[in-house]
Amino acid sequence: MSSVDSQQRVLSGMRPTGKLHLGHYHGVLKNWVKLQHEYECFFFVADWHALTTHYEDPTVIENSVWDMVVDWLAAGVNPGSATLFLQSKVPEHAELHLLLSMITPLGWLERVPTYKDQQEKLKEKDLATYGFLGYPLLQSADILLYKAGQVPVGADQVAHVEITREVARRFNHIFGREPGFEENAEAAIKKMGKKAAKLYSSLRKRYTEAGDGEALATAQALLKEQQNITLSDKERLMGYLEGSGKVILPEPQALLTPESKMPGLDGQKMSKSYGNTISLREEPSEIEKKIRTMRTDTNRIRRDDPGNPDVCPVWQMHEVYSTDEVKDWVQKGCRSAGIGCVECKGPVIDAVKAELIPIQERAEHYDNNPDLVRSIIQDGSEKAREAARTTMEDVRHVMGLSYR
Ligand code: TRP
Ligand code: SF4
Repeated sequence: MSSVDSQQRVLSGMRPTGKLHLGHYHGVLKNWVKLQHEYECFFFVADWHALTTHYEDPTVIENSVWDMVVDWLAAGVNPGSATLFLQSKVPEHAELHLLLSMITPLGWLERVPTYKDQQEKLKEKDLATYGFLGYPLLQSADILLYKAGQVPVGADQVAHVEITREVARRFNHIFGREPGFEENAEAAIKKMGKKAAKLYSSLRKRYTEAGDGEALATAQALLKEQQNITLSDKERLMGYLEGSGKVILPEPQALLTPESKMPGLDGQKMSKSYGNTISLREEPSEIEKKIRTMRTDTNRIRRDDPGNPDVCPVWQMHEVYSTDEVKDWVQKGCRSAGIGCVECKGPVIDAVKAELIPIQERAEHYDNNPDLVRSIIQDGSEKAREAARTTMEDVRHVMGLSYR
């Protein structure tokens, strides 16, 4: 895997801390299902990350791991298209985390906003631990281990991708300076052949001297298609382009996950901590009960009071599920008191049930075949490990750890 190709690689993880719900489905999971067709995807269960906050009740994690994988599969994440694995089955994550910790200034970790925020939010837990401080760095190791160029995350995780970029930059700066880097780079240019060499040099000049971003992109594309130079030379020339040393760990980008429009039962964001969720495994009768008792426009007290969909979470659900025709019926009926809230909720109940039927059927299939699920994760973890090993060889080498 060369950093040249890392733009095509996606990596993302999820902590196993409970059941997945419709908010996950309409946010993260549908996005993963889409991405798996467009990129080379690695999706993993971040069980070590879960331990940083749930170290006192590890059984929650253990139980959630397999349920979560089943939910992914049931939602349409396809092990034929994406590599699915378990973080703790790839010990290279821990090794890279350790090695990155050598060069990561404490202040960088202390300043990550989630560090203080989460400690505040989860006051009942003692999070003044070494592991919790290192949470973002473990995440950096997750990403850099696969040289992933694109990292789908929610807005709350962008800071973690940002610190990953800084760590990668620092790593490349410190360890990418092989002796004779410039000479090696110039020699590599010659190996490309006259025409490509000339083009590369002029593009590099345009970028380094005039900051021409288009020239940079063209030069990167040019490198990508070179067939007669080694991968190592390609990396060297990638680094030479940007004026750094050899790029060992490419800087990733956050690929912001579109916000889920799915409201919770109380109109807030659907989230386990608000207790306002419909889980992917919810029984039809429970779905019905939960939506029937869901909050509506609180000003609409009697049946003949007109209502306002703008302040009603049921309307937000219609926005997710309903056709224009139904939405029109809601708007008119609500504002004129022509329909009642029970009536209005009917199509939403049907839509949620209909959406969850095939998901639950698939989940049942996997629940009944635990060995299948285990083997999907086993295979995925082995595949992930192969990619991880290659990176670790480079990392150990430049850090002076490839003893013979
Ligand atoms: N911290 C992420 C979350 O809480 C999960 C995660 C762990 C992750 N490692 C990652 C996400 C690597 C993207 C890439 O949602
Ligand atoms: Fe909400 Fe529908 Fe009731 Fe209007 S009729 S308040 S949109 S549930």
